[in-house]
Amino acid sequence: MILVLLGPPGAGKGTQAARLSQAFKLHHLSSGDVLRAERQNGTELGRQVARFMDVGELVPDDVIVEVILARLEQERAAGGFLLDGFPRTEAQARSLDRALPRSGRKVALTLSIDVPDGEVVDRITGRRICPACNRVYHVRYQPPASEGTCDDDGSPLVHRPDDTEEVVRQRLRAYHRQTEPLEAYYHRQGKYTRVDGTGSVEQVFEQLSAAVREHLARLGDD
Ligand code: AP5
Repeated sequence: MILVLLGPPGAGKGTQAARLSQAFKLHHLSSGDVLRAERQNGTELGRQVARFMDVGELVPDDVIVEVILARLEQERAAGGFLLDGFPRTEAQARSLDRALPRSGRKVALTLSIDVPDGEVVDRITGRRICPACNRVYHVRYQPPASEGTCDDDGSPLVHRPDDTEEVVRQRLRAYHRQTEPLEAYYHRQGKYTRVDGTGSVEQVFEQLSAAVREHLARLGDD
C-alpha cells in the first residue's frame, strides 16, 4: 500500500507519519528528510538543493523525482510506503503515477491535513527537531521531557534554518501555488481525503487512521 500525506508546511505531516507508519507497518519516506541528509553529508545534490530550501522554494521537479523514485525502487522490498512531502506538484504526481505500475504498485490514498496559515506559522516557529533521529518537538505543544534534549537519544535539539517566519511565509506561498492543485488531481482519481488538522496530535491521528482503516475495509469488500 502506498499512502501520500499532503498539507501545508507545519501541518503535522512528519508528526503523523511517525505514528501512522508504526500503526500500519509502512515505511516512512520524507522528501525533506532525504534532502536534509544530503546536505548534512555535503553531497553535490545537497549543495544543489540548499539554495532552494533556504529561501522556502521547491527544488526542481526533475531533481526530486529522480531522488525519490530511486529510493522507492531501492527499498521496494520494504513493502508499503507512507510518502511525506512527495509529490508536491502535479508534474511530480504524474511521474509517480507513471513509475509505480512498473513495479506493480500504485498510490492507494492521499490524506491531506488541513491547517490554516496562521497556525502553521505558530507551529513552525516553535518546532525543534532531533538531528540524529528526526523526531519532531514543539516548545509548547510537544515539549521534550528535558528542555532542548531528544527524549529518545539525548541529542541536542535544533531549529531548522528554514523555520524562520519569513521563510515559512514563502513556503506557504509555494504550497498554495504549486501543491494545493494536487488535491483536485487526486480527487479526480477518487483517492483524496481531507482531515481537520487543528485538533490535538491524537485527534488528528484518529481521523487519519479512520480514513486508512476505511480504505482497507473497502479493499476487503472488493
Ligand atoms: P519538508 O521537510 O517536507 O517541509 P514541509 O512540507 O514544509 O513540512 P514540515 O516538515 O515543515 O512540516 P510537517 O507538516 O512535517 O509538520 P511537523 O510534523 O514537523 O520540506 C522542506 C523543503 O525541502 C521544502 O521547502 C523544499 O524546498 C524541499 N522539498 C521537500 N520535498 C520536496 C518536493 N517534493 N518537491 C520540491 N521540493 C521539496 O509539525 C510542525 C510543528 O507542529 C512541530 O513542532 C510539531 O510538534 C507541531 N505539531 C504537529 N501536530 C500538531 C498538533 N496537532 N497540534 C499542535 N502542534 C502540532
